[in-house]
Amino acid sequence: MAGLCEGRVAIVTGAARGVGKENALLLAKCGAKVLVNDLGGAVDGTGADRTPAQEVAEEIIAAGGEAAVNGDDVSSWDGAKAMIDQAISTFGKLDILVNNAGILRDRMLVNMTEEEWDSVIQVHLKGTFAPSRHAAAYWRGQSKEIDGPVSGRIINTTSTSGIYGNVGQTNYGAAKAGIAAFTIIAARELRRIGVTVNAISPSAYTRMTDSLREYTEEEIEWRHPRWVSPTVAYLASEEAHDLSGRIIQAGGGMVAVCEGWRRGAEMEQLADPAELGPKIREMCEQARNNSGMDGEPLD
Ligand SMILES: NC(=O)c1ccc[n+]([C@@H]2O[C@H](COP(=O)([O-])OP(=O)(O)OC[C@H]3O[C@@H](n4cnc5c(N)ncnc54)[C@H](O)[C@@H]3O)[C@@H](O)[C@H]2O)c1
Repeated sequence: MAGLCEGRVAIVTGAARGVGKENALLLAKCGAKVLVNDLGGAVDGTGADRTPAQEVAEEIIAAGGEAAVNGDDVSSWDGAKAMIDQAISTFGKLDILVNNAGILRDRMLVNMTEEEWDSVIQVHLKGTFAPSRHAAAYWRGQSKEIDGPVSGRIINTTSTSGIYGNVGQTNYGAAKAGIAAFTIIAARELRRIGVTVNAISPSAYTRMTDSLREYTEEEIEWRHPRWVSPTVAYLASEEAHDLSGRIIQAGGGMVAVCEGWRRGAEMEQLADPAELGPKIREMCEQARNNSGMDGEPLD
């Protein structure tokens, strides 16, 4: 494990706690220098406190690694740019960007406020776009300079809520589905300059999930966020240079590759909606149902 990311420079967003913290600690253990980003707010995104991010950086340094702290809001265009610039000015370069920061504002659609929608879309979707955009521009510049591919890695964080669909989370699920689509498209765009883009869909016991239900001690152990991070560290390594555009579920006892939308039954187009309707029904009956939260087609 040690040496897998030796000499590489990583940014992990939302790295003060939960999944992001474990990603930062493992990347550092694998030899990466880590910029620990976190705004330090509550689960719903309110407030700000740099102390938890500082503590993660101190833990990395105490274990013999290299780390620095960044308190920018990843969903701010200028903040994201400042974060990318800080990694480069502190450690000399940037190789790995782990977009992990996130918040929750769950509500059934009929009651959801505009603010609940906007804030969740902003932090997840723009908070993935803005850092990726600035990192990609840096990598393109590097690739021009060396006249060849770089070894850049973007690892985004999606959710089963987005790729399969979870009730009460139209805002969060839409943002996370957007992140999955963003991952696939960015992977296609950045491949030629040597940047891979993948996403993980974590399952972990964190402050974001601890109130969902009662967990046994045993469940808390195998849902510990540290089980998510080995997948992230591998995708961040030079060894994973040919793995891109994938969505991988990690944690909670398993690692699994998610398969995306595929065209099912098809027919020629028809002008008459009354004639078309029964044929659409027939095709839907032949097609596999959408997946439930366990990733299996619903009955
Ligand atoms: N825990 C799970 O089972 C699970 C499941 C699916 C997806 N996820 C995703 O994994 C990621 C990590 O979640 P977690 O469970 O560790 O939650 P968490 O609340 O423990 O960690 C999220 C971190 O992001 C930080 N953050 C929030 N907004 C920010 C911003 N604008 N700028 C910088 N930092 C910001 C928070 O301060 C927090 O430290 C999130 O994207 C979440 O949606 C988690």
